[in-house]
Amino acid sequence: MFLLRPEAPTDAPAIEALLDEVFGVRRQHKTSYRYRVGIAPLRRLCLVAEKEGRLVGTIRYWPVRLGGEPALLLGPVASARGEAGNGIGRALIETSLDRAARLGHDLVLLVGDPAYYARFGFAPAPPAIRMPGEDPARLQYKRLGVAERPLPTGILRRADADRAGGDCSPDSFALDPGCAGRSAVR
Ligand SMILES: CC(C)(COP(=O)(O)OP(=O)(O)OC[C@H]1O[C@@H](n2cnc3c(N)ncnc32)[C@H](O)[C@@H]1OP(=O)(O)O)[C@@H](O)C(=O)NCCC(=O)NCCS
Repeated sequence: MFLLRPEAPTDAPAIEALLDEVFGVRRQHKTSYRYRVGIAPLRRLCLVAEKEGRLVGTIRYWPVRLGGEPALLLGPVASARGEAGNGIGRALIETSLDRAARLGHDLVLLVGDPAYYARFGFAPAPPAIRMPGEDPARLQYKRLGVAERPLPTGILRRADADRAGGDCSPDSFALDPGCAGRSAVR
């Protein structure tokens, strides 16, 4: 049995260790980290799974912008190696998406394996939505059904893109692995 709870600042070291174990220590060079470096995750959507006092799962969300509108970037999500198939991933994803919907969020994007995320209602993003530097086949989206607006399109931008003037192209900002790992929850 595991339990889900909101991420706390003190979870940071265990989360970093879990993400290093699952994705490797070079994970912060992934394209999706360009949207996270120096920007706080959305604390109300970040959850951890705990089992017998041990952190066995994590999910985090970051704010991004698409077509001038706010959106969510889901991830990273991970469960501990020895816990695969125990429903931790499903619980983290479904619970956090439910929270996001209740908080009024509309659009969720992620980079991941379509074969896994289809079960949660994610679909490949149309070509009109782009994350520069990422394999388009891995960019997924889901609408939470709280808005009837047309799907925003364009290049996915950092939440602070207007302030920074950046567009998340590989050259547009310096990768600072130190920032992405902070449990800088708001
Ligand atoms: C993907 C991940 C979060 C799933 O966590 P989990 O706790 O094992 O998930 P669940 O127990 O809820 O679901 C397991 C199911 O997902 C399937 N699954 C896991 N990874 C999959 C993948 N990449 N593609 C397709 N199916 C996948 C399993 O085969 C299993 O299927 P079943 O229910 O038919 O038996 C976990 O395996 C993990 O941390 N993987 C490495 C990191 C990663 O890839 N994260 C997601 C990308 S950001």
